[in-house]
Formats: sequence, structure tokens, C-alpha cells
Amino acid sequence: MTARIVIEKVPHPAPTPAGERAALMANPGFGKVFSDHMVTVTWTAGKGWHDAKIRAREPFRIDPASAVLHYAQEIFEGLKAYRGADGRVVTFRPEENARRLNRSAERMAMPAVPEELFIDAIEALVRTDAAWIPEGDGSFYLRPFMFATEAFLGVRPANEYVFCVIGSTVGAYFKGGYKTVTVWVSEDYTRAAPGGTGEAKCGGNYASSLVATAEAFENGCDQVVFLDAVERRWIDELGGMNIFFVMDDKTIVTPPLGTILPGITRLSIMKLAAEAGYTVKEEPYGFDQWQADARSGRLREAFACGTAAVIAGIGKVKYRGGEFSIGNSGDGEITTQLRSALVGVQRGTVADKHGWMHEIRLDA
Ligand code: PLP
Ligand code: COI
Repeated sequence: MTARIVIEKVPHPAPTPAGERAALMANPGFGKVFSDHMVTVTWTAGKGWHDAKIRAREPFRIDPASAVLHYAQEIFEGLKAYRGADGRVVTFRPEENARRLNRSAERMAMPAVPEELFIDAIEALVRTDAAWIPEGDGSFYLRPFMFATEAFLGVRPANEYVFCVIGSTVGAYFKGGYKTVTVWVSEDYTRAAPGGTGEAKCGGNYASSLVATAEAFENGCDQVVFLDAVERRWIDELGGMNIFFVMDDKTIVTPPLGTILPGITRLSIMKLAAEAGYTVKEEPYGFDQWQADARSGRLREAFACGTAAVIAGIGKVKYRGGEFSIGNSGDGEITTQLRSALVGVQRGTVADKHGWMHEIRLDA
């Protein structure tokens, strides 16, 4: 067994004054307000992970030939820390994020991050920047990521990496707050092909999704829905969320894994829905079927889910050839029920019977 890596604390020379921080946190939106510190850990071939520090958040100095800048060897995670109803600070299933990061790392030929180092890193950041965790509906979004720093232009897995965790005070993901969203089905662009990187949370997947996301915005939509890359028929997922379909017979359908991100929210909703008496099916669902079921009323509700967005009802679907509405175009009853069940566990108002919540003791 390798020795546990201790994260050294390097004092911040000038943390944000309390008044300035409060102003930033008043209306944070998503991903714009950053806390004072970051964790960095270096990996080099032969030496492994070393030089773990929590220190002032500041720009990186990396060589212009760093592999990440040319060949996009980069992966990331996303999870939230909450101030629970009882004042405790908790995160949701962080060990699942650690495992997924390592599956992404394997796919992208990057080194694994020991699970305890991942957990120590997020805990260190949450403890140090606890003042950035908002009260109420907001949360502290943690963004662990790893990228290749080796200066080398040959194409092969790099020999040097940095693992970093930053934190951001966040409110609702979508502009305009918590609302039912409109989605755009992209018929021209796909996100992931079999054998590709669809199941990895790598930056490249998001880079290639941006043109479709821009098209969604141009068409007045909040998010893009991708179809499978082979038949251009089956619903895969959204640009940054998984998708669920609620049928009129207590059946809930979600696309199977393979080319989509294995969402931790998705996994949790499948469990909560089954416990609430729904039949949950992971099976392919076609865009043609989606239109037919929405029109016939067989499809009652649809929703998008992910850490950032939590659960957002899908009210309307647009595509090049037209548009259709789902249910009453607002949040459906089952979407609302599942959101309350999930958020209740995350916020500590509903019993955590699966042991999903991970407390971070601020005094530790
Ligand atoms: N799908 C994509 C493409 C995502 O970026 C995300 C967000 O992380 C998800 C699905 C949902 O995953 P999770 O529930 O683990 O946040
Ligand atoms: C998340 O939900 O954590 C995501 O990563 C989605 C998006 C912000 C990329």
C-alpha cells in the first residue's frame, strides 16, 4: 500500500474580504463566482502523485507545449457541497465521482487518482472555503479536474499531470432560475459514437457539443439533446444532463449506458423511482417514438437531470422540422415528486437510508 498523501496548507496572502464575498454570493448564477483556494497535486511518471497543496486560487503557469493545449488530455468531475437543514456540511455520493473520474482517466490514458486523495482534496477545499457555501437553495459546486502538463508535441499519453479542485458558489444552472426547460434536438451533430469517449467526462466531449448548444440557444432552447451517432434515431442525452421519460403506466424510461455519461443523479433517480413504485427501464427510446408518445399523451412527463441542473422538467421540444409539447408544458407531478425525494436527501430533510450523504466536519 502506498502512503496516504498529506495535503499541505499554504496560507492565502489575501482572501476575499467578507463584505465582497457576501456581494458575490448574493446572486451567483452558475459557475461565475469562485472561492479563494484550490487544491493542486502533481503526477509525474516514476514518482506518482506528490506535492499536494491547498493554496490561493491563482492562474496556472504551464508551458505552451503542454499536451492538454494540443491533444485535450483533460477530464473533470462535478459535485456539490450543501449546508444541510441541520447546519451540517455534506456532499452527495462523492465516492461515485472519484470512481467515475478514474474510469474517465483510464479511457483517456491518464493516471488514477487514489479515492482517498480525491476525498481528502474535496474535504480540504470545503473546509478551507466553508464561508463560500451558501445558506438556502444554493450550493458550493466542486470541480475536480486533471490535465496533462508535459511539454511534448508527440502524440502519446503524457508523463506529467496536475489534479486540481476548485470551488464555486452556485444557484440555479439555467438562466431565469429553477424552471421547466425547452430542448433542441440536434439532427446534424452527434456527441459520442460506440467505442468513443461518451462515457468519459472529458473536456473534449463538451468542446464538440458547443456548436450544437449554440444552435439550441439560437432556436430559443436551454439545452441540446443528442441522438445516437449510428442511426441518428435513439435519444442519448443532453449537452450536460441525462434524460428520463415518464409514461402514463407508471413506467419511467431512460436511455441505456454505452455512449452517455453514467450520471450519478441518473443512478440515484433510478433507485428513488423504483422505491416509489415506478417501473424503471433502461432502454433505447427513439426520437420518432418521443414525438408520437408526446402527441398521443402516452408520455406524461420528461425531465433532464444532473448535478448542476438537479432535475429540470422538459416542457417543450424543438427540432428543425417543428416542435411539440410534453404534458401541460410545465413541471409534471412525478418530476416534482422525484425532485423532492432527491433534494430532500441532499438537504437533510428526508432520511438518507442509502448512506448517500458524506459529511464534511468543518472542525476536523
Ligand atoms: N451527462 C452529461 C453530458 C453531463 O455533463 C452530466 C453532468 O455531470 C450528466 C449527464 C449528469 O451527471 P451527474 O448526475 O453525475 O452530474
Ligand atoms: C454537472 O452537472 O456537474 C456538469 O458537469 C454539467 C455541466 C455543468 C457541464
